[in-house]
Amino acid sequence: MDHSRAPVLEALQEFRRRGDVVYGPPGHKQGRGVDPRVLEVVGADVFRSDVLSLNGLDDRRESQGVVTQAEDLMADAVDADRAFFSTCGSSLSVKSAMISVAGPGETMLVSRNAHKSVVAGLIISGIRPVWVHPHFDAERQLAHPPEPEDVRRALDAHPEAKGMLLITPTDWGTCADVAGVAEVLHGRDLPLIVDEAWGAHLPFHPDLPAWGMDAGADVVVTSVHKMGGAVEQSSVFHLRGDRVDPDVLKQREDLLGTTSSSALVYLTLDGWRRQMVEHGHELLGAAIERAGRVAEAVRGTAGLRLMGREVVGPGMAFDLDPLVLTIDVRELGITGYQAGDWLRAERHVDVGSADACRISARLTHADDDATEATLVEALRALVDGAGSMERPPRVDLPEPRALELENAMTPRDAFFGRVEQVPIAEAAGRVVAEMISPYPPGVPVLAPGERVSQEALDYLTSGVEAGMLVPDAADPTMKSLRVVIE
Ligand SMILES: Cc1ncc(COP(=O)(O)O)c(C=O)c1O
Repeated sequence: MDHSRAPVLEALQEFRRRGDVVYGPPGHKQGRGVDPRVLEVVGADVFRSDVLSLNGLDDRRESQGVVTQAEDLMADAVDADRAFFSTCGSSLSVKSAMISVAGPGETMLVSRNAHKSVVAGLIISGIRPVWVHPHFDAERQLAHPPEPEDVRRALDAHPEAKGMLLITPTDWGTCADVAGVAEVLHGRDLPLIVDEAWGAHLPFHPDLPAWGMDAGADVVVTSVHKMGGAVEQSSVFHLRGDRVDPDVLKQREDLLGTTSSSALVYLTLDGWRRQMVEHGHELLGAAIERAGRVAEAVRGTAGLRLMGREVVGPGMAFDLDPLVLTIDVRELGITGYQAGDWLRAERHVDVGSADACRISARLTHADDDATEATLVEALRALVDGAGSMERPPRVDLPEPRALELENAMTPRDAFFGRVEQVPIAEAAGRVVAEMISPYPPGVPVLAPGERVSQEALDYLTSGVEAGMLVPDAADPTMKSLRVVIE
């Protein structure tokens, strides 16, 4: 295929060349009606590019197949049979993928370190999850992705399962053994969905962890806005093989998706694919080297502990994304929350994630010498600044397995059942009816339907005291919890 073409970008250029005047949405009419104060901040080109696909980028019948051509090029670029663009982030794509594999009341294996959008998919669809638990690393206070043997055991116990959803890489860059898990599922002719929201860059450089599709996954969901170069909400889901019907996938996406897709998303996805096919190897190769230099600098800085490849091995991660720098700050006597807040306030450096133990910084093809130096200098300054920070309140970090809770009912039944809000002191032993997801990374510590343990509550309440955010809780202060009336 001709990867020098960018069908959506070309259609926008053509739209502008023709000088079409639009009498349908968007009502700002390519910026004509936008308040000048908005244009001053955002720029006119954003609105000039905001064009619908129907009777905009393409005609009423979409006879040019502008978006389809771009999707076909994307599929070709990453060795998928089909690719579908989605303009509602992977939050929507994972749900589309899940309901293409199982329906209400049917069972699916789901790795328990799932993002909240996956749990939301379970609530909305009524799919019964069989949680496959990650391996909890007590020293690092980190969950490593489940392994093929865990999946085999879960399938033996639940032969009725329709497939599995696996998350890799995690928010901290640790990766699962996709090929091993795919082999287990395919041995029973079941499909594997990989939520690779953090892995849009993986297909484009051999020194990065294996891209899900190359490792045998049937459906792979990516957020190109996370590690790639497209605007926020740019997601692509990819399909290979015949275990999932492409028409079913497309129709299930249609059920959830918007009828007013953003051209900005399509345009930037199209441009990203062309950039990666033409220059990805060189750009990502440079980013990997840059990340290596930052990693060296962090290793040479007393008080900071970089998570390196020592986490790769049996019972731990299968691989590690070298572009994700995960830095434990506990030796400085501070939390990751404090480190993140300090870096933003004092150095105007915004980290990717922060938790009680660590921060993460992600490098991409977009970094340069200046951003590399900024990060290294800011991290060194953090070490000096840590001494003057207040000692943090203690977070009750859970023991391994303390977060593996009994699944008392389906997420849907718990979420939509009769519920009450109880003081946190009365919540242990009750079945939770809401998601409680420290953000980022947005992995629920409590998912609806789970019976709450005192350890999980202690972790959450002490975490919130120390700066953890749980924006999806009905009571984000964690003084009370929404539970099922049994
Ligand atoms: C593993 C995982 N899946 C899905 C999502 C949702 O992606 P998006 O933000 O593109 O909707 C996220 C977001 O952080 C994520 O971490």
